[in-house]
Amino acid sequence: MNYSNKKIALISGSTSGLGKELSIHLSKNGYHVLIHGRNENKLNYLYDKIKEINGSSTIINLDLNDYNGINKLGHEVFKNYKKLDLLVMNAAILGTLSPLCHQEPKEFEAVLNTNLIANFRLLRSLELSLKESKNGKLCVISSKLTKHPKPFWGAYSVSKAALEQMIFSWHLENKKTNVKVYIFRPKPINTKLRKAAMPGENEKKNQTPTDAAEKLFSILNKTMPNNIFTFDL
Ligand SMILES: NC(=O)c1ccc[n+]([C@@H]2O[C@H](COP(=O)([O-])OP(=O)(O)OC[C@H]3O[C@@H](n4cnc5c(N)ncnc54)[C@H](OP(=O)(O)O)[C@@H]3O)[C@@H](O)[C@H]2O)c1
Repeated sequence: MNYSNKKIALISGSTSGLGKELSIHLSKNGYHVLIHGRNENKLNYLYDKIKEINGSSTIINLDLNDYNGINKLGHEVFKNYKKLDLLVMNAAILGTLSPLCHQEPKEFEAVLNTNLIANFRLLRSLELSLKESKNGKLCVISSKLTKHPKPFWGAYSVSKAALEQMIFSWHLENKKTNVKVYIFRPKPINTKLRKAAMPGENEKKNQTPTDAAEKLFSILNKTMPNNIFTFDL
């Protein structure tokens, strides 16, 4: 396949929820999507679904705890596509909601590893390809908790605040590049993460992953005056 005329997007955590719907939506809109996840069956299912709608994708089966794998990913993306037009830092885990000091230290570390450290590693591995795009976009799925902290959200809340801080720093260091940065803080979306956080809630009040993905895509396509944007999705 000749990718030179295609926009290339990589979505971390494409196998479920927002990442899955966004991958489908991007493929409908002409992107070649590098669909990422750690579950082969779910990745194959998504690959077939994208093919059914005449889209194109490439599977990246990689656990985000595999840091060497993340390093190799940067080389592979550059070797195969020479650029990355859109990187969506979407994958995350919740951990257990509890008083902060009741959270198991191992779990606290696991949440920070997936939601923060893996994104740091993705950024350093992929920034060259992102900068090679004429209109590179770095899109970070954060949380409203970064602006309105709540009790009991433990490591998850900490990880999102640190993630935003990391991205703001990176942006300041890279103002002169073509890369635009989007930080999204979604309202509740009906996904497995939300269900784990709020099992008893009325789901009808929440947005669907499809609605959130479409909204996010329309924002990515608007002309913006600056190089960094934050949105309540
Ligand atoms: N849902 C909401 O209300 C809400 C609100 C604010 C922000 N967000 C943010 O939105 C983003 C998407 O979350 P979601 O709600 O769509 O949750 P989700 O359905 O649980 O999706 C999370 C995705 O991340 C993947 N993932 C997690 N750990 C991974 C690892 N170690 N290696 C590879 N993939 C991994 C999951 O893979 P598996 O399928 O294998 O588990 C899944 O594809 C997250 O950043 C979340 O913090 C969500």
